[in-house]
Amino acid sequence: MKAHLTRRYTFSASHRLHSAKMSDEENRRVYGKCNNPYGHGHNYALEVTVAGPVDPRTGMVCNIVDLDGFVEREVLERFGHENLNELPAFQAAVPTSENLCAEIFSLLRAGFHAAPVEKVRLEETMLNSFEYSDKGEVPR
Ligand code: NI
Repeated sequence: MKAHLTRRYTFSASHRLHSAKMSDEENRRVYGKCNNPYGHGHNYALEVTVAGPVDPRTGMVCNIVDLDGFVEREVLERFGHENLNELPAFQAAVPTSENLCAEIFSLLRAGFHAAPVEKVRLEETMLNSFEYSDKGEVPR
């Protein structure tokens, strides 16, 4: 039997939506105010869901302390209070929340091994959120 554990984190970062694959005019049309050259900030909320059997010894899917440590080091320190456009992950990709969510999912999948990471959900504002999950994908 599988149990799910979801933990919530918050961080702030700035970005500018601008694609090198489109003209300046097209960028303005597609991204509107989000293409403003000076960028803008968001207070992101991140939810990480791990899923797996409950360890009969501890009664837990994984230790939240381990998850917190990993997310703090690998996600919050990497993206928190940064201009996302300047980071290596977004030199080729536009730092939309779709791409940020996928990047966080990859980091967790590659580096967190205490329990399988099933889903990452990223709230950009109170009105929109993005999800990335392993549904339908071959586990790495
Ligand atoms: Ni934005």
